[in-house]
Amino acid sequence: MPRPSDSSGKASVPLHLAVIMDGNGRWAKRRLLPRKAGHRAGARNLRRLCQMCGDAGIKYLTVYAFSTENWKRPPDEVSALMALFIEFLQSYDAEMEKEGIRLRIMGDVAGLPDDVRQAIREAEDRSKDRTRLQLILALNYGGRAEIVHAVKSISEKVSSGELAAEDITEDLLKTHVYLPDVPDPDLIIRPSGEYRLSNFLLWQSAYSELWFSNVLWPDFKQRDFDQALSSFAARDRRFGGVK
Ligand code: IPE
Ligand code: IPE
Ligand code: MG
Repeated sequence: MPRPSDSSGKASVPLHLAVIMDGNGRWAKRRLLPRKAGHRAGARNLRRLCQMCGDAGIKYLTVYAFSTENWKRPPDEVSALMALFIEFLQSYDAEMEKEGIRLRIMGDVAGLPDDVRQAIREAEDRSKDRTRLQLILALNYGGRAEIVHAVKSISEKVSSGELAAEDITEDLLKTHVYLPDVPDPDLIIRPSGEYRLSNFLLWQSAYSELWFSNVLWPDFKQRDFDQALSSFAARDRRFGGVK
């Protein structure tokens, strides 16, 4: 599908949107609910976001669901999250099929519990031929861990003689990240009033546009989405050049 563009040829809708789904815990606390109720509300909102993205013509949606640092949380919160990921992958599949959503995972999958890995394999396999929207769940994801993963695989090729040190370029590194075929995010949204990336897409975000909002993730609605997209459409992306 062609990207909608203005007269200067600037894409007005992001091809790839990335969202840091933050603020579930505070959402629950305000309602005197356990944190896991906030995560459940956050997962419900992810379904709504997928619909908004499909309707807007976005082709890739990456969402930060669990960071490599989130293992520091209390064990009962971590296990509630793992159970929620399995439930999401299984119960959302029929709707994903209707919406033409292909599901992919980005992160250190080997470090996830067996039952989560199994649910991931099944969901990826069931959805592999769908083309309307790619939903990429960043699970056990860290931007630094991803760069280390890329460097390790390149250095193995250098040790075996498949590559020489001179072959290491930005383009080469790009082909060794978790999902090399996925373009860099055009827009990164972080709700919940925090102004940081928290180790999300460090390599890929070099020229991403950023949008912050005070709304907590489960409360992020169509109105917030529209505001973020219209802010994006008005940005002048220069990538270091001049107009
Ligand atoms: C984001 O919400 C979800 C995950 C990190 C899994 P939080 O749980 O971080 O919510 P707050 O930031 O405590 O409100
Ligand atoms: C980022 O949120 C990770 C996810 C949304 C999955 P955090 O709540 O973990 O980030 P910090 O701790 O506020 O930086
Ligand atoms: Mg948080």
